[in-house]
Amino acid sequence: MTDLAEDFRRTTAPYRRAVDEALDRYTSSFIRGNGSEVPERLRAAIRYSLLAPGKRLRPLLVLLATEACGGEWRRAMPAACAVEMIHAYSLIHDDLPAMDDDALRRGRPTCHIEFDEATAILAGDALIPLAFELLASELTPPEMAAACCLDLARAAGCRSLVGGQMDDLLAEGQARSLEDLEHIHRRKTGALLRVSLRLGGRVAGAGLDELAALDHYGTSLGLAFQITDDLLDCCGTRAELGKEPHKDAAHGKLTYPRLLGIEGSRRRAAVLVEEACRVVEPLGDRAELLRRLARFVVQRNH
Ligand code: IPE
Ligand code: IPE
Ligand code: MG
Ligand code: MG
Ligand code: MG
Repeated sequence: MTDLAEDFRRTTAPYRRAVDEALDRYTSSFIRGNGSEVPERLRAAIRYSLLAPGKRLRPLLVLLATEACGGEWRRAMPAACAVEMIHAYSLIHDDLPAMDDDALRRGRPTCHIEFDEATAILAGDALIPLAFELLASELTPPEMAAACCLDLARAAGCRSLVGGQMDDLLAEGQARSLEDLEHIHRRKTGALLRVSLRLGGRVAGAGLDELAALDHYGTSLGLAFQITDDLLDCCGTRAELGKEPHKDAAHGKLTYPRLLGIEGSRRRAAVLVEEACRVVEPLGDRAELLRRLARFVVQRNH
């Protein structure tokens, strides 16, 4: 790992620890196991995937956006965890045999391998309403909770994440343009990163200019993030990634390296990250961690 990536990881460790504790707490209180109406196997599968060691990038974006807009990051924890729940569900379903057919995730067997396909589908299903239950019940005032629910529903729905996933599958083995690829990446991955920032801004009571800056940052970062994910699939190792590399080419996925090559993709990601850093300049020093996160995203090795 580069010095910058290691330094970022160390600086943000307290936020990630707080997110992990909150995910554990929310899933203990919202999904009680034995003795409640939640089947123990379902509870175990939800916690297995949600609490597995991910980078927690989306929750970090929520919390850092709150800080960048002058808010208290702990107040944004329900939003941070809700976004991670949507992300975790999307990974469980993304790994299913009917989708990318992956056996390894976050260094562990994927949910359907550890449990079974039906349990994995249901664990993913359960995480979606849980995210909205968390927002609606833990964020105050209610108007802000409702606005966050609407933003997240749009980012997770058929016009964004789910639509992007559909087109990602339909594009397998097809000759498509860079424009098509960008349209897929912006929806399947970019939308959830972008909305993370928006929720963080909302919790801090951000004004329209601040929200617009966060949106622009999120759009550029979201694309740079998926370009790097594509690059890591080409160039990373199983041990570093905690997931199987070289799967995109095997599936004939439409990716940046396929259309622009390795160096061209790296250059595109670097330009996007600089753009992301520039657009949050007006937020001043409070956005410094957002700028460091953006640089981390393209320098990471996992
Ligand atoms: C992986 O996301 C899936 C994509 C959207 C490309 P992350 O790389 O953020 O995965 P975790 O959360 O760290 O496991
Ligand atoms: C996944 O993209 C996007 C979502 C889960 C919404 P990928 O299929 O590229 O993610 P990985 O490489 O399996 O993590
Ligand atoms: Mg996929
Ligand atoms: Mg995948
Ligand atoms: Mg990938």
